[in-house]
Amino acid sequence: LKKGLEIEILIDHMKYPNIGVGYIDGNKEEKKIVIKNTIRGQYVKAKITKNRSNKTEARLLEVIEKSSIEKDSFCEHYGNCGGCALQTLSDKNQAQLKLEMIQELFKSNGLLVVPEKIIDSPKVFEYRNKMEYSFGDEFIGGPLTLGMHKKNRHNDVVNIPNCHLIDEDFRNIMTAVLNYFTVEKAPKYNKRSGEGFLRHLVVRKGLKTGEIMVALSATTQWSLNKRSFVEMLNKLNLKGVLTSILYVHNDGLGDMVSGEIECLQGSETIRENLFDLTFDIPLYAFFQTNTLGAEHLYRSALEMIPNIGGKICFDLFSGTGTIGQIMAKKAKRVIGIEIVADAVEMAIKNAQINEIDNCEFLCGDVYTVLNTITDKPDVIVVDPPRMGIGEKAVKKIATYGVDEIVYISCNPKTLVDDLKTFETCGYTCEKVLLVDMFPWTGHVETVVKLQRRNP
Ligand SMILES: C[S@@+](CC[C@H](N)C(=O)[O-])C[C@H]1O[C@@H](n2cnc3c(N)ncnc32)[C@H](O)[C@@H]1O
Repeated sequence: LKKGLEIEILIDHMKYPNIGVGYIDGNKEEKKIVIKNTIRGQYVKAKITKNRSNKTEARLLEVIEKSSIEKDSFCEHYGNCGGCALQTLSDKNQAQLKLEMIQELFKSNGLLVVPEKIIDSPKVFEYRNKMEYSFGDEFIGGPLTLGMHKKNRHNDVVNIPNCHLIDEDFRNIMTAVLNYFTVEKAPKYNKRSGEGFLRHLVVRKGLKTGEIMVALSATTQWSLNKRSFVEMLNKLNLKGVLTSILYVHNDGLGDMVSGEIECLQGSETIRENLFDLTFDIPLYAFFQTNTLGAEHLYRSALEMIPNIGGKICFDLFSGTGTIGQIMAKKAKRVIGIEIVADAVEMAIKNAQINEIDNCEFLCGDVYTVLNTITDKPDVIVVDPPRMGIGEKAVKKIATYGVDEIVYISCNPKTLVDDLKTFETCGYTCEKVLLVDMFPWTGHVETVVKLQRRNP
């Protein structure tokens, strides 16, 4: 198994995220070979890239034989676009494969309770309410493109005019914006030199309300004809309503949407509904990208803590206050903590719109804010970003000694690390389930009920 050797191997099982594991000649006594972006049951050709004492890694060269659980992909962009990794499976099989991978992850981390099921997304197509596209090119010096990064090539951007994860309005807006700037000969931004104009396009749509936000993230190095850009968007034949057109003055060095917002038309937020609640969402606030899936996610999470009546609940990492406001219907009081000021401002406003008066939302880092407040919770819900909570904040949360904690996670890897810390602090995972919020991709939301062990 020298580096550079080419092998043919059957993928025996999967590890999270989308890593196939095989054995030379199928012999499980032999060392494991791990190969990214493969699927259980595939027979593949791969090249050894690393051979260490504990594991051997190989790079996929070719799928010689498809797995019996595979079929043809349904999207013309599959293979080129880096968006969907599990598109050659049926909707049921891609969800099942994620369940298997997370079960394996829990077991290999010594966690005794593993996810018992995966709840399907109500929609498997056109389910996304937000897309963040990049401007770029598919090859150096190529024409302007607007879409997703190419698979395994982060500097190349491919057009995805017929992506199935978003609805027709998203597709029309993306195509029209690309055509507009191609005709206008607007320069794309060059990450290395820091020169150019076009960086990203964010489109957000309330799938329940039809309200649409279009945010152009670009530098101030080119003179945007704001009137003609807005006119072009307004002429589109959209099913939803253009509520918000924004120009983000993005002169920063980081490859992210950030900078001062100039509102070119409408308001700086769009509205979306979850259950019977209303949420106004600004550009910079997190909101679950699968609206209908989010209702399943939050329902599943709150079913794990049915007895919150009359209790004080903490909603940590609260975003625009979604979970807190759903809990507020039963709970005595809810305190949300969130680091993004725009999101906190909107959570407070959303609570007013929803006529909820037993919620408050505090701005700041969870660990720091918890150290400054004197309120004591009876129940805690945490929904951190991909980096997880981290040891220091987990220990702080555990010091409250509440009986029940619900942990919602979009990153199973940081989740298991945090769960191991919770276990050392006297908590046991009682129930774990998955919600397939991102069909066809390798991503998934995990919900865990933690119960305090008797002292
Ligand atoms: C996965 S989102 C969850 C938001 C919300 N619970 C929801 O469901 O819409 C994670 C949130 O944590 C916030 N966040 C990230 N780091 C934080 C920190 N150190 N302290 C407080 N909030 C943080 C992010 O801004 C984001 O809104």
